Amino acid sequence: MNRLLISGKQILQHAYENGYAVPAFNFANMENLQAIIEGAEEMNAPVIIQTTQGAIDYAGFEYLADIGIGAAQRSRVPVVLHLDHGQKYEYCLKAIQLGWTSIMIDSSLEKLAENVRKVNEVIKIARPLGIAVEAELGIIGGKEDDLKSEQDIYTEVKDAVDFYQATHCDALAIAVGTAHGIYKGTVKIDFNRIQEIREKLPIPLVLHGSSGVPLEMVSQAVRCGINKVNFDTELKLANLQALQTFMTKNPGVYDIRKMYRPCRQAMKEVVKAKIEACKATNKSWVVL
Ligand code: G3H
Ligand code: ZN
Repeated sequence: MNRLLISGKQILQHAYENGYAVPAFNFANMENLQAIIEGAEEMNAPVIIQTTQGAIDYAGFEYLADIGIGAAQRSRVPVVLHLDHGQKYEYCLKAIQLGWTSIMIDSSLEKLAENVRKVNEVIKIARPLGIAVEAELGIIGGKEDDLKSEQDIYTEVKDAVDFYQATHCDALAIAVGTAHGIYKGTVKIDFNRIQEIREKLPIPLVLHGSSGVPLEMVSQAVRCGINKVNFDTELKLANLQALQTFMTKNPGVYDIRKMYRPCRQAMKEVVKAKIEACKATNKSWVVL
């Protein structure tokens, strides 16, 4: 394994100790991945590249392993390959077998006891191999589910403590007001809740649904104790907008290299802005 594909544990510990958040970006194809790695290199920041089960179904498990690990091997900054919102044990297992260095097992829709059971099932396999396990508690709304009541789904501080004691997971995604996908109204984040959970738990906390969250709010969440921030939708939107602009200006062009160059550049600009908001600029280190 190349030095620059590092374990999730190592990258999150570094962020935890140095007061920043590792930016985590979803990818599903080559241009998407190149934009993330190039953006991180230009900002001299460690980065997490992550795949959902949907991305794996789209591109193929082995194919994403090849390009994800290959990109990390060529990178000038530390990179973690993470499974995002793994819901099925089989996906977690296969990701571990193929070289992912961090796994999220998302059983947040289950009852607390079942969530604990499923997380422990993955930890049992991952921990001896040094692979980090992220769990989720509370429910982060948005396009991934159809929950109506926001207040009821926020992560309760006491539950977080109980959950941590029952699993000793390596990182915990908490529901504090963000939502997956495009926001319809104003974003409100419960910063006090982040701080309270941070004070009680000795592990990195993760913010999901961070597209559309103003950059200053992302930074404030980091100041309150978030150590990993997930971004997906804004990269997709940047890609779409760049493609639409290019095709409007160049209706006769069919060369995919010409079409996707501006898309990659647009995604990279988003990546760099998010890295800065996470306070991860120049936080790269020499991996021994
Ligand atoms: O797990 C992925 C993220 O939480 C991304 O959310 O699409 O709102 O940026 P987003
Ligand atoms: Zn998420």
